Amino acid sequence: MKLCMIGTGYVGLVSGVCFADLGNDVICVDKNNEKIEKLKKGIIPIYEPGLEELVKKNFKNKKLFFSSNLQESINKSDIIFICVGTPTKKNSGEADLSQVYDVAKEIKKSSSRFKIIITKSTVPVTTGDKIEKILSKKKSKKLFSVVSNPEFLREGEAIRDFSYPDRIVIGTNDLRSNRILKNLYMPLISKGAKYINTSRRAAELIKYASNAFLATKITFINEIANLCEKTNINVEDISIGMGLDKRIGSRFLRAGPAYGGSCFPKDTKAITKTADDFKINLTLIKSVIKSNENRSLLLLKRVFRILNGKVKNKKICFLGVTFKANTDDMRDSSSLIMIPSLIKRGAIINYYDPTGKKQELNKYKNVSFSKDIKSAISKADLIIIHTEWNDFKSINFKSIMKKKRFIIYDMRNIYSRMKMKKDNIKYYGVGG
Ligand code: UDX
Repeated sequence: MKLCMIGTGYVGLVSGVCFADLGNDVICVDKNNEKIEKLKKGIIPIYEPGLEELVKKNFKNKKLFFSSNLQESINKSDIIFICVGTPTKKNSGEADLSQVYDVAKEIKKSSSRFKIIITKSTVPVTTGDKIEKILSKKKSKKLFSVVSNPEFLREGEAIRDFSYPDRIVIGTNDLRSNRILKNLYMPLISKGAKYINTSRRAAELIKYASNAFLATKITFINEIANLCEKTNINVEDISIGMGLDKRIGSRFLRAGPAYGGSCFPKDTKAITKTADDFKINLTLIKSVIKSNENRSLLLLKRVFRILNGKVKNKKICFLGVTFKANTDDMRDSSSLIMIPSLIKRGAIINYYDPTGKKQELNKYKNVSFSKDIKSAISKADLIIIHTEWNDFKSINFKSIMKKKRFIIYDMRNIYSRMKMKKDNIKYYGVGG
């Protein structure tokens, strides 16, 4: 099939490449010409394991094309995926849909052949209705079908998540579009992915409700971890004990720093704003947002306690500064709250991240980047394990550390408390 992905951000690029790999002809379009020229040369704008190889392979095989000519790309395609950003509007928490509507206006100008227009960007309930309204102003309804097909890709696992999804959600009442899209996804359905067809509004809400639920699950275990710390219980035992109940499940039940990234903070705010507009108060999700916003301060307080309140001139090393492992993404990372606050109190910060130096931290005095784990941690008074990269999971601290007395605060609970105790290392985990 001939597909056009509008927007070569995370969603558009990953989905486009994966669709091409399934044998479709895919044009990835972006108004940023520089980005398009780089992509043609195999230079990938995002960090995602496996993506570069797949882009190069499908570009070479002429299944994947890059263009900044939107009209031409739309005209050549049967299915148009809208994959542009829907960032949070400043001060309101609402999703900014201007890019989505701009694309809809461009589609309106295009040729008269039947096309399926799909929102893959995360968009609030009723956005599909509004896109349909924009398109209907000039065109006959029979010439297009507006469908919602949300993505559930995790950064760092995106190709795997695309290739082996738990479910594919298609929101449309149009039988023809449903048949065509089922066919498009057949290679994944035949490998075991569940395909569900819902109303368009339901599909839009499934995406927000899923992310809000996962954010709630994480926040739940984070709050239980707070109780564990006071009662000398290891929260990891709680996660295992709860997770084995099939009704609960063990995934997204790991305590840690505040959740971050490009989706959970944005989508939790947007769903409460949409609900407010419909005069529905989503109090639970609002409380999750608040709890998560407080979490970085809570973990900082623990740092102060661990250092007996003496933060000034302490050498603190962060292992990992992104919002989670296997990504270079700093968006809403809790390190961006913790590091500035620690410097304010006189700490000297050094960090190592497998994805390199971060421009977000360049502006701070007393923050430096080390090129490897050894030089990052060897002189530290306190090592904070902030993300769960495999690189951090088997460090021989005893042989690397120059100081006799150093402390580890493992915010991802990747080390065994028992083993640390046996090795005589002062160690703190999250929740226990
Ligand atoms: C998320 C959703 O998982 C994905 O389906 C959606 O489409 C995009 O948003 P992503 O933002 O890449 O994906 O990250 P994810 O792996 O979900 O983690 C989000 C945050 O939750 C991270 O800060 C992570 O560290 C945290 N997290 C996750 C926990 O603290 N504990 C867990 O058990 C799981």
